[in-house]
Amino acid sequence: MDRIPEPELMDEVEQARAYAAADFSEPHQAFVEHFRQRFADYNPKQVLDLGCGPADISIRFARAYPQCTLTGVDGAAAMLALGRDAVSAGGLQSRVELIQVYLPGSLPKAGSFDTVISNSLLHHLAEPMVLWDTLKANASEQAVVFIMDLLRPDSQAAAHELVERYASDETEVLKHDFFYSLLAAYRLEEADVQLRQAGLVNHLQVELVSDRHFIVWGRLY
Ligand SMILES: C[S@@+](CC[C@H](N)C(=O)[O-])C[C@H]1O[C@@H](n2cnc3c(N)ncnc32)[C@H](O)[C@@H]1O
Repeated sequence: MDRIPEPELMDEVEQARAYAAADFSEPHQAFVEHFRQRFADYNPKQVLDLGCGPADISIRFARAYPQCTLTGVDGAAAMLALGRDAVSAGGLQSRVELIQVYLPGSLPKAGSFDTVISNSLLHHLAEPMVLWDTLKANASEQAVVFIMDLLRPDSQAAAHELVERYASDETEVLKHDFFYSLLAAYRLEEADVQLRQAGLVNHLQVELVSDRHFIVWGRLY
């Protein structure tokens, strides 16, 4: 099945609310656990979360690594408003900052991030190299990189099955977004081509971690 792109920003209030209210506890906690397993004994200090949305992963990550500070970046004001509320409710304002930047765009503290994370941004980008270029422009030397995204299924029927299996109790808005996100997602071999094009293929590896997610992880030069 060919990829069908979807809009980049999730800037509609209803869409952002549906996303923030959905139960992503399993994949989002898995994100943190996959990171911990692959970087055992590593202690992130300055973390950049690209496409942070309503900051559920930013918050989980900041709690898992209490010595880090985290900068979350998103282009959608509606998502960031929900994210800032969640950061305040979690008492993390002193360690987690969320900023509005449409990528590619320049970020404060470029080059200082020892850890770059991102979940489900890649499949939104009209030009996927924006993710890899942003990561190269903002990570410090030998930074740790951990990206997770959806995997495009073989067919629309398979995408419908995944929506029913994992989102049957969610709102129609959320189910719609999940379905179209699956159609917009990349395949492992496409992610591999992107890494080659970015000159990152010797540093980062692509790994399938579930029936609908893959990760790209490693350390920069
Ligand atoms: C599916 S959400 C993922 C949010 C969060 N990482 C999570 O896992 O819950 C993707 C986010 O990427 C943001 N986004 C998409 N394209 C972007 C761009 N070019 N610049 C900045 N943010 C972007 C969207 O606004 C949205 O909040």
